[in-house]
Amino acid sequence: MNKSSLWLCGAAVAVVLVSFSRSSPSAAPSAPTSQGGSKLGGAMEEIGGAVKALQEALKKDDGLAAALPDVWKAQRAVIDAKSELPKAVSDMTDEKAKHKAEIAYRTQMQDLLRAFLDVETAVINGDAKKAEKALRQADNLKSAGHGQFRPRDGK
Ligand code: HEM
Repeated sequence: MNKSSLWLCGAAVAVVLVSFSRSSPSAAPSAPTSQGGSKLGGAMEEIGGAVKALQEALKKDDGLAAALPDVWKAQRAVIDAKSELPKAVSDMTDEKAKHKAEIAYRTQMQDLLRAFLDVETAVINGDAKKAEKALRQADNLKSAGHGQFRPRDGK
């Protein structure tokens, strides 16, 4: 290796190191969330849109075949929501209670992702009944999750 290729290698290593050190830990478990136009609110709206589309698709005889992209959309949105925290949790000042609430929130998000994985399994197996059952499970998780974590501000 001559001098200039050594120099080029060094520069490439430096660029890689600098870009790693600059990458922001936006998905870190304790990332703050904002209310109103929050990342979590956006992800929730995506889940809502995908669920509506899925419910419509399941009403049609040939709907299952076209439902997969909406299942994936819901799953991706849950993954986005999972790395955020509801404001009701991030605002907590009692560290012990906050930690407990974080675990409860993430556990429910994992259950929601599992429900959408069950929807996917049913859809790829052409089983509309099972897909509907898994969607109902997602809806139950929604009621429980909103009851516990969604601010009571009339939204
Ligand atoms: C099928 C499941 C679910 C659907 C369709 C759904 C849908 C929604 C919708 C449409 C909103 C309003 C978004 C906005 O105001 O812009 C919302 C907000 C919210 N949801 Fe869900 N949700 C689901 C499950 C859950 C679960 C399981 C949890 C908690 C474990 C949860 C926690 C929240 C919170 C904290 C907000 C307020 C977010 C904010 O405005 O910052 N949701 N959800």
